[in-house]
Amino acid sequence: MKKIGIGLLGLGTVGQGVANIISNPTDRHPLVEELELIGVSVRNLQKKRDISLPDSIFTTDPIEVVNNPNIQIIVEVMGGIEPAKSLIIQAIRAGKSVVTANKAVIARYGEEIANEAKAAGVYVLIEAAVGGGIPIIEPLKQSLGGNQITKVSGIINGTTNYILSRMDKEGVNYADVLKDAQQLGYAESDPAADVEGSDAADKIAILSGLAFGGPITRADIPTKGINLLEAIDVNYARKLGYGIKLLAISEKENSQSKSKESQPLSIWVEPTLVPENNPLAGVNGVNNAILVEGNPIGRVMFFGPGAGSGPTASAVVADILNIAGIQSMSEDKPFNLDPLLSAKSWKKCHVAHQKEITKKNYIRLIAEDTPGVIGEIGTIFGKKKISIESIVQFDASDSEAEIVVITHKIKLGQLDQALSDIKNLSQVKRIAATMGCL
Ligand code: NAP
Ligand code: HSE
Repeated sequence: MKKIGIGLLGLGTVGQGVANIISNPTDRHPLVEELELIGVSVRNLQKKRDISLPDSIFTTDPIEVVNNPNIQIIVEVMGGIEPAKSLIIQAIRAGKSVVTANKAVIARYGEEIANEAKAAGVYVLIEAAVGGGIPIIEPLKQSLGGNQITKVSGIINGTTNYILSRMDKEGVNYADVLKDAQQLGYAESDPAADVEGSDAADKIAILSGLAFGGPITRADIPTKGINLLEAIDVNYARKLGYGIKLLAISEKENSQSKSKESQPLSIWVEPTLVPENNPLAGVNGVNNAILVEGNPIGRVMFFGPGAGSGPTASAVVADILNIAGIQSMSEDKPFNLDPLLSAKSWKKCHVAHQKEITKKNYIRLIAEDTPGVIGEIGTIFGKKKISIESIVQFDASDSEAEIVVITHKIKLGQLDQALSDIKNLSQVKRIAATMGCL
């Protein structure tokens, strides 16, 4: 059998993991032995790398790799939007299948790229773009295809879960633990994407598109990260029996949309209080966990390492093997695209307005420590028909009180109205934090 030529765009954390697997095929699937690394493009040829590859396959010009006639599969693991997006499209137009871990590109240009791939009769596979080593993309496309999916949610950013877990368990400070996450290769090249929630928003956009059958406008997803999270909220959450996790949630709104209407989806990313007995509370470190709910399956949870060289490379190589398997069966004939592996959408979906999101909320208010203030706050919530699960006054010092309210499930529009009235109470100094709560 002819070897299958692989071109790597990028040899950083993920690229080196992929090269490692290809260079060491023993005891892996026999197709790994049929893969041959033909070209590698990097920015800096002098950089010291953890893997030794022949100098002859390196270049600083990614186009050389894309156009190399001995390469059949292009693996884009350079990151960023450009030139990555243009290179993916150039590879497709050159008749090559692409494997990419680039959620930023797929969340924004996935539909355009899928259309290009369909026209060229090639695959673009993206297992590594969400959940690191966890198989979640292909299960959504294939194994769960018989279900009516109602909700996809979970922890889908390894860096922030690593940071939150270490801050909670070891009391390590935010800046130090972020540096550790960067050194371990978990964080994006600009870690703002992790801590501000944008990486998780990219990933939930991709998962929603697959689960609900229609591309999602990435820019419409309300997104809050952990960068503004204060230690005091972690502390209060713990006292109330909760941990804090950065969650991404995507669910069908209750309204039954007729098949031709665009399906409204509530999608959001924010730090969320998770009860200590919830399965997500036990997901620590770099691990991710994705819950998929649907009919008739009920609820399934996908769990495992959500970032890092080896786990992400495992997902990239799975995609390479899928394509290589089909290519090797077709030998020199143009291969027949497998409809389950190919990207497709069958419905229109749109992200519902933020005020339509229905959820439980945690609110921390700073107020004067005077009699009757909790009563006045409760009255405003009551007038807006917001039912309160608990209201607790924590530390009072310098005549200031910290009041924490947990609501039952309400629409965010209702909460906004209540908070705007509460802000106007003379005893209330400020609304210090709002978060989700499970
Ligand atoms: P990385 O360590 O920063 O590596 C990026 C690689 O691409 C480097 O080898 C770099 O060259 C090369 N590169 C970047 N820009 C280039 C350009 N304009 N021209 C040529 N080469 C260029 O990144 P990474 O962590 O491996 O991530 C790569 C992709 O995988 C990103 O899309 C990321 O979101 C995604 N991903 C990462 C993880 C993870 O755990 N790290 C997990 C899942 C998905 P030099 O080495 O010469 O600088
Ligand atoms: N920076 C990402 C994370 C990499 O921490 O989850 C995996 O996609």
